[in-house]
Amino acid sequence: MRIIGLLGSPHRNGGTAQLLMSALKAGEREGANTSLYSLYDGEIKPCIGCIRNEEPTCKYPCIFEDYGKVLLERIYEADGIIFGTPIYWFAPSGVMKNLIDRMTCMENMVAFGEPSYLEGKVVGVIAVGADTGAIMTGGYLVTTLNSMGAIIPPWAIAYSYKSKASLWEDKDLMNAINVGLLVARMVALLKGNKVRLGYVEDKALLEEIRKEVLRELNIEVEAKRHVRGLGWLRY
Ligand SMILES: Cc1cc2nc3c(=O)[nH]c(=O)nc-3n(C[C@H](O)[C@H](O)[C@H](O)COP(=O)(O)O)c2cc1C
Repeated sequence: MRIIGLLGSPHRNGGTAQLLMSALKAGEREGANTSLYSLYDGEIKPCIGCIRNEEPTCKYPCIFEDYGKVLLERIYEADGIIFGTPIYWFAPSGVMKNLIDRMTCMENMVAFGEPSYLEGKVVGVIAVGADTGAIMTGGYLVTTLNSMGAIIPPWAIAYSYKSKASLWEDKDLMNAINVGLLVARMVALLKGNKVRLGYVEDKALLEEIRKEVLRELNIEVEAKRHVRGLGWLRY
């Protein structure tokens, strides 16, 4: 079982990364091999809308030779994809929107007599902000991905408004962990395994994952300082 996390934030140890890593670690506990890709590691050119050409030219692989194409390949290979995005004006970040648009080449395989390449893939969403707009952002992503053929498990949207302190908000962290657990369990179910698709409340697991993410991001000292002075939460 292969699950990837797509990080749509420029901050490698920001709130989005914290919750996305937590979700992937939860998925690993369900037997998934996971990888995290930052969308800021290369250029994702904006879609140029080949789909409206008279001859159908929008098909996988996309015509651009850029980092976006690499990410589309990783999506193609994955059983599960967790989209982690900061909330930028009630929406996913621009780079994530570019990637979503570029995924049209996978969905548009239906114009070539094939199923959408998103069909059968399981997706989850994590959105992190400092104020409001999580449901618009998460709702947009699940609606769009479902319209491309992807499967959305229960409790597939987690969000936090705690920005860089998201990892310290137990409820938000538990929700993110559930995104990882339920994406993995839904993949397992599709592969013929018997699983329970219920919300998991597990304080010990939460503490264990938080500790692992902290260790990997090496942000303990910085984060504790931020939690004391909440002024930076404004943007
Ligand atoms: C361009 C821009 C737009 C933003 N718009 C919103 C918003 O609509 N709602 C919100 O809650 N936070 C908004 N924020 C704040 C970020 O979502 C917040 O800083 C978040 O922690 C970023 O995630 P990160 O720490 O993973 O980078 C915005 C930030 C930027 C830079």
